[in-house]
Amino acid sequence: MTNCRTVLSGMRPTGPLHIGHLFGALTNWRQLPDRGYRCFYMIADWHALSTEYASPAAIRNNVEEVALDFLAAGLDPGKATIFVQSDVPEHAELHLIFSMLTPVPWLERNPVYKEQVEALQDKDLHTYGFLGYPVLQAADILIYKADCVPIGVDQLPHLELTREIARRFNYFYGPLFPEPEALLTETPKIPGTDNRKMSKSYDNCIYLKDEPEVIHRKITNMFTDPRRIYRADPGHPETCPAFAYHQLFNPSETETIAVSCRAAEIGCTQCKKRLAEKTTSFLAGLRQKRKELENDRELLRKILRAGAETARAVAAETLKQAKKACGMAG
Ligand code: TRP
Ligand code: SF4
Repeated sequence: MTNCRTVLSGMRPTGPLHIGHLFGALTNWRQLPDRGYRCFYMIADWHALSTEYASPAAIRNNVEEVALDFLAAGLDPGKATIFVQSDVPEHAELHLIFSMLTPVPWLERNPVYKEQVEALQDKDLHTYGFLGYPVLQAADILIYKADCVPIGVDQLPHLELTREIARRFNYFYGPLFPEPEALLTETPKIPGTDNRKMSKSYDNCIYLKDEPEVIHRKITNMFTDPRRIYRADPGHPETCPAFAYHQLFNPSETETIAVSCRAAEIGCTQCKKRLAEKTTSFLAGLRQKRKELENDRELLRKILRAGAETARAVAAETLKQAKKACGMAG
């Protein structure tokens, strides 16, 4: 395909993935190969190390968890290159080259950096590596000369830095890198079961690997419209997290549910029971696929090895060009 564009995206292996990742990213990622994009999907274990360096024991296991979730969610290794960042050491070498030309103030004023250092008070993130997180991310993207990066809005400052680094490299050494653009996913906001942001640290997630009983329990206990105290009170579906889930897992019934909720015809218990049924059946295929792969770790590793091999061939070529451009070719 002549105007086939290259996509790279990644996730940090900090735990199993939840339905926010599914609707916020994976569903979109899955469709991109069929829309003509050459796709690289990466498990960013070095990026995980930048925050988990003091206790990295869980990272290896989480790499496999995320790989299982990727494949269960329908990413097809026959159509997209799925790999682990540290299996492609070329990223680190390009990161080193980029670190030479990236001004420190660009990194210090990055709003994501400032926020994270504040938010994760239990960790000492005043490290060289964490400050350079976006430099490594730039290397991840540019080593495949990716021109499209499917990300959420929270990652936009990082992508802007990637563009600035590409521009600066090209300015010094000649045009080599594209200035990648964001492929913003129109994500419906998926609240956690307690109506806060869905996050592992709040213990309010529905994981892709959750068994049906677990999903039933989580949904039974989930928050609903806080203004609906008694069964006879009319509900406000637009502020109810259970209703947000109906829109995703049970789209054909959402209208009816909204109407009967507002009229207090349906009770929250019944409404959530229906939601739990719909959610478990929606995720059944995914869970089944995940189980099969869980029992065939050798296949999983084979897929990741093959992904790394494909990725390395492309990455090595770009690295060669980059080294030549900046006078570092042997
Ligand atoms: N920083 C991203 C996140 O936290 C993960 C990531 C690492 C990434 N490298 C990337 C995303 C390259 C897109 C492109 O979600
Ligand atoms: Fe939410 Fe359903 Fe209860 Fe309405 S009936 S408040 S949509 S759980």
